[in-house]
Amino acid sequence: MKDNIILIGFMGCGKTSVGIRLSYQRRQTMIDTDKWIEKKQKMSISEIFETYGEETFRRMETQCLEELIKTADKQIISVGGGLPMREENHALLKELGKVFYLKVTPETVYERLKDDTTRPLLQVEDPMGRIRALMQQRGPVYESCADVILEVSDKSFDEIVQDIGSV
Ligand code: S3P
Repeated sequence: MKDNIILIGFMGCGKTSVGIRLSYQRRQTMIDTDKWIEKKQKMSISEIFETYGEETFRRMETQCLEELIKTADKQIISVGGGLPMREENHALLKELGKVFYLKVTPETVYERLKDDTTRPLLQVEDPMGRIRALMQQRGPVYESCADVILEVSDKSFDEIVQDIGSV
């Protein structure tokens, strides 16, 4: 197993913000799977969903993990909220390092993302309903993938970084 820190969790749980802070504190590079894919495809996530559809994006996520297994060590890796939902990604995540699940409430996600337009899955008439439904489906999967589960809705990003450091 590689010695990376992997951050998983729902959109808006703070993976990127926490990852940036961890990266700074530990002097380790941070990789964000969405950013990695956008750079490789030279397209935004929204454009990829629009042009190729979600299934193709999910294949790109798996390719990203396969690539990171070859190249990443002692790094912080923040993964897209839907990535753990693909069964074949579970073993890849385990191989990549220690998996931290940042667990948040639907209300926190809604508050943070209600004006966001970059998450294609939340551009619907009832985003709160979509958040709740996706979370219900994803929560158990996130938990089964995680080495460590952190409840983070009431915590600042700095507190989350401290919690991760103390594990
Ligand atoms: C998705 C989460 C997004 C991005 C895409 C799909 C999801 O990443 O990968 O919009 O299915 O939950 P973040 O979790 O970083 O927002």
